[in-house]
Amino acid sequence: MDKFEQAFNELIEKELKIEPRDWMPEKYREHLIRQVSQHAHSEVIGMQPEGNWLLRAPSLRAKQVLLAKIQDEGGHGLYLYSVAETLGISRQEMIEQLHTGKAKYSSIFNYPTLNWADIGAVGWLVDGAAITNQVSLQKTSYGPYSRGMVRICKEESFHQRQGYEIMMQMAFGTPEQKEMAQDALNRFWFPALMMFGPHDKDSAHSSQAMKWKIKIESNDQLRQKFIDHTIKQIEYLGLTCPDPNCKWNEETGHYDHSPFNWDEFWNVVNGNGPCNQERLDHHKKAHNDNKWVREAAAAYALKTEAQVA
Ligand code: 3HC
Repeated sequence: MDKFEQAFNELIEKELKIEPRDWMPEKYREHLIRQVSQHAHSEVIGMQPEGNWLLRAPSLRAKQVLLAKIQDEGGHGLYLYSVAETLGISRQEMIEQLHTGKAKYSSIFNYPTLNWADIGAVGWLVDGAAITNQVSLQKTSYGPYSRGMVRICKEESFHQRQGYEIMMQMAFGTPEQKEMAQDALNRFWFPALMMFGPHDKDSAHSSQAMKWKIKIESNDQLRQKFIDHTIKQIEYLGLTCPDPNCKWNEETGHYDHSPFNWDEFWNVVNGNGPCNQERLDHHKKAHNDNKWVREAAAAYALKTEAQVA
């Protein structure tokens, strides 16, 4: 082991941060580019199912709040693309990887948002699951990613409350609204739990990610944490958990759950979910339609640079 690798290992051991100019193993860099770029793509693609309800939000306030949330998600994507750029990949390469299917984005965004209650379920469950993971990632070993997570978590926590507020309005509203809230919970419960990724034993990257302290808690640990605190929120709403086996287990000190439908998960991850095609087509179209904005920004930057010089 040379002195560079030794210095890297010591930083990891002491739970200090690796910074962009520090030496790092090539595999560590590649691992982070894969994860961070996929995270960035998730933030940006995640704007689509919510954007679907912007023009149909039930009040001006609801519309304003949803718009602010969607803008935040775009901002999260930008922070994360910038984090990945510090690792030596360009934004253009990342977008190409998304468009060719080389890079993934979270499975959850391939499910449709059919009605307003779904916007509540997305904010509550999807952002709730994302925060559970991201709070843990605040301690990740790569400095720029860890610091980005601190800010993102603050905003995500507002998003989770936005979703829960909608769920409260629906669940405590008319019987029809309560039925819509239950239906949204039924459809989003299992997909939200599968956001945490495959079980630890089937997770290809977890073991190395934990050695490098990129991941602080495993997929299953985070999923269980999310189930444990969300069940109480379901009870408060007066709704029913869609999983009949979700019962408190005195021995483990956690809620049990039914086996997940991993065939469905891998089907969605591999491009065959209900909205995969639509999400990618929309992203490609927006990217092409907005080419002139990138060109104008680049021309302006060049001009400003020339003036400064
Ligand atoms: N959706 C799509 N692909 C998934 C997935 C999911 N929910 N869970 C796992 N996978 C993929 C992995 O990317 C990997 O594929 P790859 O080798 O082609 O990259 C494969 O399945 C094996 O899974 P692993 O468990 O081995 O993968 P990881 O160790 O990377 O763990 C993860 C997966 C927990 C999602 C991890 O990558 C992670 O923590 N990522 C950062 C957080 C993130 O991306 N969150 C997205 C959620 S949405 C969001 O944040 C937006 C917010 O506004 C709601």
